[in-house]
Amino acid sequence: RKRGEKMSKLIIQGGKKLEGEVQISGSKNAALPIIAGTVLIKGKTTLYNVPNIQDVQTMFEIIKDIGGKVTKKNNKIIIDTSKIHTYEISENLMRKMRSSVILAGAIIGKYKKANFSYPGGCEIGSRPIDLHLKGFEKLGINIKEEYGEIICEADRIMGTQIHLDFPSVGATENIILASCLAEGVTVLTNAAKEPEIEDLVKFLNKAGAKIKGAGTDRVEIIGVKKLTEVSYNIMPDRIEAGTYLVAGAITGGNLKVTNLNSNHIEPILNKLEEAGCVLKIEKNTVEIKAPKRIKAVDIKTMPYPGFPTDMQSIFGALLTTAKGTSIITENIFESRYKYVQELNRMGAKINVEGRTAVIKGTKRIQGASVVASDLRGGAALVLEALVAKGVTQVDNVHYILRGYENIVDKLKNLGAKIYLED
Ligand code: UD1
Repeated sequence: RKRGEKMSKLIIQGGKKLEGEVQISGSKNAALPIIAGTVLIKGKTTLYNVPNIQDVQTMFEIIKDIGGKVTKKNNKIIIDTSKIHTYEISENLMRKMRSSVILAGAIIGKYKKANFSYPGGCEIGSRPIDLHLKGFEKLGINIKEEYGEIICEADRIMGTQIHLDFPSVGATENIILASCLAEGVTVLTNAAKEPEIEDLVKFLNKAGAKIKGAGTDRVEIIGVKKLTEVSYNIMPDRIEAGTYLVAGAITGGNLKVTNLNSNHIEPILNKLEEAGCVLKIEKNTVEIKAPKRIKAVDIKTMPYPGFPTDMQSIFGALLTTAKGTSIITENIFESRYKYVQELNRMGAKINVEGRTAVIKGTKRIQGASVVASDLRGGAALVLEALVAKGVTQVDNVHYILRGYENIVDKLKNLGAKIYLED
């Protein structure tokens, strides 16, 4: 993080109905594993629609740190990994972002060794990587742990059968990356089915990999000898799309959200309709018209195609304004309710017990001084501020900027009164 960034805050004057059109950027969670995947490719990779956000910058820093070259032109990125000279991911960079662990699979897949440290404690739960490591071991990779460092080495990486105890997104991606240059066939069952995995696989297949079944719970990876130069367009960010739709819903607005993939956000669209919003759904755009008052709905987060955990806090904010009582059950990450305390400071009536949050809707949300504690929780505070009476100050904005490209300008263009203060 740049010096001083921690100090920046958002000042938001609530009460404006959002109106107009907003364009969705490339997906953070697709971009990160795809950038990691460039390590497997001999030659240059050209990526389009790469979101300009902090997490992606951190990934570039790691790629450069191990010897890769990254050239940027707006959202087009050229990555050349032909001169990688180390298999060690610096602890410092590893700490900055948990998803850096995804590079381990790509580095091992290509060089048969990788050293990295535990990604460390995270703001939304313990987030272990046991499933990633078990998968690596099954592929014939030896794993040693020394003083918090994980040392992976293999003579050969051999195709095998791997069953995941839980359909972890990161473990699925890491195993795919580690096995696409393996000898023989790897069959991964109980794999995660998230669209970002399909995007990663489309990218790898375009570069010459032979992977079948992405987007289902059985992924078959037929090892190939090498991956070659490729250009690829990253899919739209479904969580960003959901966030702007909720921005429309919570402010009583009327928005057109473009450049999205409506197939990917079905569970979100269903809940918005259930809450009383009128939607006009097309393949790449969704128009939303909010009702006079949102209706209470219940939500249970689940692996895809269930309701995404990354939208849990976003709907948490929305439902504070609903007529009636809503119940949210968080089934993926245990500590994803840190934002609740801050929303309650603004007048929300949320009670959390374990994995469940009970939200009593109210009309009286008021501006306050609040602090973001993670990316999606931070976004929930911004949404609440848009509907609050008076002014809200959101601190620790760097969490939000990790995952939302141009959020301040995008909201301003929709009529929000929002300023970033450094
Ligand atoms: C990814 C997304 C994140 C999203 C999450 C769930 C990226 C960069 N991040 O995170 O935004 O919220 O999917 O949709 O794509 N688990 C284990 N052992 C493991 C791995 C995971 O127990 O080795 C558990 C986790 O603690 C968690 C659950 O599995 O409870 C889901 O985690 P996982 O799907 O791996 O999420 P991430 O890939 O970290």
